[in-house]
Amino acid sequence: MRIVATISETRKAVRAARAEGKTIGLVPTMGALHAAHLALMSRAREECGSVVVSVFVNPTQFGPTDNFEQYPRDLESDAAKAASAGVDLIFAPSAAEIYPAGFDAWVEVGGLTGILEGASRPGHFRGVTTVVAKLFNIVGPDRAYFGMKDYQQLKAIQKMVRDLDFPIEIVPVPTVREPDGLAMSSRNAYLSTEERTAATVLHRALKVAEELVNAGERDPEKVREAALGLIRSEPLADVDYVALVDPETLQAQRRVERPALVALAVRVGQTRLIDNMLIEFPR
Ligand code: PAF
Repeated sequence: MRIVATISETRKAVRAARAEGKTIGLVPTMGALHAAHLALMSRAREECGSVVVSVFVNPTQFGPTDNFEQYPRDLESDAAKAASAGVDLIFAPSAAEIYPAGFDAWVEVGGLTGILEGASRPGHFRGVTTVVAKLFNIVGPDRAYFGMKDYQQLKAIQKMVRDLDFPIEIVPVPTVREPDGLAMSSRNAYLSTEERTAATVLHRALKVAEELVNAGERDPEKVREAALGLIRSEPLADVDYVALVDPETLQAQRRVERPALVALAVRVGQTRLIDNMLIEFPR
């Protein structure tokens, strides 16, 4: 496995892999790799001849209170994990490589990025879609792999690819969870022991919502209230939103009569966590 820091070295390595007839899979990350990233890499390894992982803590997707400086950075440890997943190339650029002086061109997906995470974190998705568009142009992958925990990000990227005609297949990969249900996230490292226990409330709330729908509840407000009630019973948790939305448009549903996405954001101590669950409409 090679580690490169420049766009030109990345393009050269990808050209060489293509010359050998290999397909290219890209796993974009911000480093701090954990089991969920490794699941993306393993999937890419199964499906592609050559696997590229980008490691870049993207400043433009962080808000002023988002702790950009404190975000964990450990390329050596990330490289060891990526190598164990069979990755061929790590692209770990500097901020100046991605955003040279005078940079001022942005990729913005309308509609579904203004709600949920977009409402709570203005500018976040513009930063995500801009850097992902750049990574797509730098690497030129056949497939790119994204986790379903960041469901709204996945939808924004799928829409960007569709609307801007990127010839790339976006592969969604199911959320990887700890044995007690907590979705894997780099942010879990910020939780104290008590907060880590309290954080299981996110998955428990999603299960309550799913069980209610499966039991026949069709009023999204009642489903939401049940999930909210559970989260509010956890003293260390402070809910940002719980929403029942259409999995494609992310618009609120009036009745739960077709597949629904329950999405939530909860602050546990100082750490903001998100999670979601797709509920197949029971027949
Ligand atoms: O999901 C992430 O880690 C980031 O948002 C991504 C897609 C790597 C873009 O910086």
